[in-house]
Amino acid sequence: MKEENSGRKNPVSYFSASKNYTRVSVCIVLLSAGYALGFFSASTINRAGESPATVEKLSDAAPANTEHFPDLLRFRSRCGEPVPSKLVRRTILDRVFNGTSPYENFPPAHAAPLLRRKRIKGWGSTGAVFETLMRRVRPRTIIEVGTFLGASAIHMASLARSLGLRGTQILCVDDFRGWPGFRDKFRDIKMVNGDVVLLHQFIQNAAAMNATEAVLPVPFASSAALGKLCEWGIYGDLIEVDAGHDFHSAWSDINMAYAILRPGGVIFGHDYFTAADDRGVRRAVNLFARVKGLRVQLDGQHWVIDSP
Ligand SMILES: C[S@@+](CC[C@H](N)C(=O)[O-])C[C@H]1O[C@@H](n2cnc3c(N)ncnc32)[C@H](O)[C@@H]1O
Repeated sequence: MKEENSGRKNPVSYFSASKNYTRVSVCIVLLSAGYALGFFSASTINRAGESPATVEKLSDAAPANTEHFPDLLRFRSRCGEPVPSKLVRRTILDRVFNGTSPYENFPPAHAAPLLRRKRIKGWGSTGAVFETLMRRVRPRTIIEVGTFLGASAIHMASLARSLGLRGTQILCVDDFRGWPGFRDKFRDIKMVNGDVVLLHQFIQNAAAMNATEAVLPVPFASSAALGKLCEWGIYGDLIEVDAGHDFHSAWSDINMAYAILRPGGVIFGHDYFTAADDRGVRRAVNLFARVKGLRVQLDGQHWVIDSP
């Protein structure tokens, strides 16, 4: 007897049909669950449009993804028409201080009681490298990135005097904020409403050391200041980099400073030697030299790179 005609369902085919239905139902349930999961996970997507898990994976993968590297190596290399050295001070006074001098009417009444007559402290700030380079380069414009209380800047001002470098200007780029926790070691630097008086104390130091004609503060974050110096056409014959010591800060400062190094000039900086430096400054200096095909020379605790 043929099953099809019996009017009764073959138990085997009935079983396989119901199995198919079950499969279809399972698929539908799974698809719905997947959709629902997708919908809910969309609510955890971050601003960049990636779920945290994706972001984590991407950042893990980033070092191997070489297509991103050119952007990390790209810094502005063309700057403004060079301002003649003798106009550098005037240009900074006009552009940064609205034509007035930060030394005028100093100290203001609210700051005077907070300042010490002279409070100078630096690190390797009078090393032999300063005299060696100033003798060799005879700079008319020096740019210091990282000044703090002015120890190295004031030392260079005094070297300029003793080397007969008339009119040499030392532009001191620093946000004059120090670093988080620096007052644990510098409790005598006063703080008013969260503002430390580093800029005022720096100006006071320059005045006490007779260096006001040579030294000018440029009181901004290094990247903002170096970007503007580049735009304004202010170049340095000698550039010292001694601000943030972590790799990324040093990398950015060195690259941005190099853009405003006059041909034949020298860029140099502190803290190349200790193990801690290897995590930041030394790695940045070595990478920079490798990328540019330049040679790192050493002088005491300082690194030195001559422009080609
Ligand atoms: C090591 S101290 C400079 C010492 C100085 N060169 C000397 O030898 O006397 C570092 C200075 O860099 C400044 N600094 C750190 N990161 C900075 C940034 N991103 N922009 C501007 N200044 C910064 C700090 O405020 C601090 O005054």
